[in-house]
Amino acid sequence: MLDDTQQQDQLARDAAAAFQAQGLTADPATLQLLFTEARTHYGWQDRDVAEETLQELYEIAKMGPTSMNQQPLRVIFVRSDEAKDRLEPCLFEANRPKMRAAPVTAILAYDLNFWEELPHVFPANKHAQDIFKNNATAAQVNAFRNGTLQGAYFMLAARAVGLDIGAMSGFDNAKVDEEFFHGTSLKSNFLVNLGYADTSKIFRRLPRLTYDQVCETI
Ligand SMILES: Cc1cc2nc3c(=O)[nH]c(=O)nc-3n(C[C@H](O)[C@H](O)[C@H](O)COP(=O)(O)O)c2cc1C
Repeated sequence: MLDDTQQQDQLARDAAAAFQAQGLTADPATLQLLFTEARTHYGWQDRDVAEETLQELYEIAKMGPTSMNQQPLRVIFVRSDEAKDRLEPCLFEANRPKMRAAPVTAILAYDLNFWEELPHVFPANKHAQDIFKNNATAAQVNAFRNGTLQGAYFMLAARAVGLDIGAMSGFDNAKVDEEFFHGTSLKSNFLVNLGYADTSKIFRRLPRLTYDQVCETI
């Protein structure tokens, strides 16, 4: 007789096997949308982004894997003029107009106290919290690694729901932390402008490193 957890594991294995049997690969349009034709954008149409679209984005992004299911990503969607006024002085000069023109700028942060959620999100290991609770270095390394991974999932999920993106790390992290995260365990990572792009503002595509430059099979 299987207990509850074992039954859930069996159901998950059945679902994974059925899904794998479909042999799916991404269709060409999806690859273009997410990677090959998608560009980083710097100018924005005067067209709003619905709150539901941002929620849809997160519902997709949250499914990307993180180690021990840590999920340290925390997000502030900066939309109002007041919030943009607070963000603007934190940015390098050249990035300010890009942020101002975007209907929404997401501050992607990570929570150094992500481990507080581990009993809920990683119940398999009862001692998971102890690894990070009294080890600031381990907490920082894991929060930054997994928060950055989630940042990448976030950008691709934004494209998946039809948004254009322009990421920005050209800002003073300490200033953003002081302005938005003072007295909390959150640290800023990078920003993502979100909206519908003014395609006249992009530049030519820059070269990517080749397979041979980057990859090795041993
Ligand atoms: C994490 C991150 C930070 C970035 N920071 C900035 C930035 O501060 N300002 C800027 O104009 N572009 C920034 N970029 C844009 C990159 O230069 C751009 O994504 C890259 O050249 C690829 O462009 P493409 O997607 O159009 O091929 C950033 C991109 C990423 C992913």
